[in-house]
Amino acid sequence: MRLRKKHWAVPEMKENPKVFFEGKKYKGHWGEVFGNSNPIHIEIGAGKGQFIAKLSKRNPNINYVIIELDTNAFVYACRKIKEDELENVRALPINAENIIEYFDKDELDRIYINFCNPWPKKRHNKRRLTHPRFLVQYRDILRENSEIHLKTDDRDFFEDSLEYFKDNSFENKIVDFDMKLSDYPENIVTEYEQKWRDKNIPICYGVFKIIK
Ligand SMILES: C[S@@+](CC[C@H](N)C(=O)[O-])C[C@H]1O[C@@H](n2cnc3c(N)ncnc32)[C@H](O)[C@@H]1O
Repeated sequence: MRLRKKHWAVPEMKENPKVFFEGKKYKGHWGEVFGNSNPIHIEIGAGKGQFIAKLSKRNPNINYVIIELDTNAFVYACRKIKEDELENVRALPINAENIIEYFDKDELDRIYINFCNPWPKKRHNKRRLTHPRFLVQYRDILRENSEIHLKTDDRDFFEDSLEYFKDNSFENKIVDFDMKLSDYPENIVTEYEQKWRDKNIPICYGVFKIIK
């Protein structure tokens, strides 16, 4: 089922100074946007922002840029940034497929990808956020030894992603096909994660370190 477009979403987001519709201008200058030189982590496919709201409060000395193409969901994440006064979070409403146009070489320290669409059909695989088409760009914008943190409910997608990471010189730090909450007390449960956990669907979790 396709949700009706919320026509008020973009106008509301445009009123919010923490949302960057002209994000390409800040390539190489995100530190100035935040007004400090703290590490910058991004979340791609941030949805309604539940994950980042908790993570950013936990880590006030890390800057977060959240990315999402669906304004219907993202408007709620943007509202949270404003209402919860999340000073270390900015929002970038874009399709991540050209992410290299928004961040400079070595500008980032970590990427989070939570429950992205698995695109199971072969002809759609290239839309996956872990597809080599994306990984080559992540390689460029991530600093040496930084990490990509991936969670998904889709085992086939996870297994394919392991291959993509290996082929693109990422080293496995964590590969867990059934991420028990008791093993990861630091874990922040996302909106989609809660849905799958409620149905007892195993969650796959991986942390991949970039080797340059
Ligand atoms: C299944 S939702 C998961 C939302 C949230 N991360 C969570 O775990 O609850 C996946 C999100 O990724 C977004 N997304 C998928 N491909 C994207 C892309 N190329 N660029 C930006 N966002 C993307 C979708 O719009 C969707 O909101």
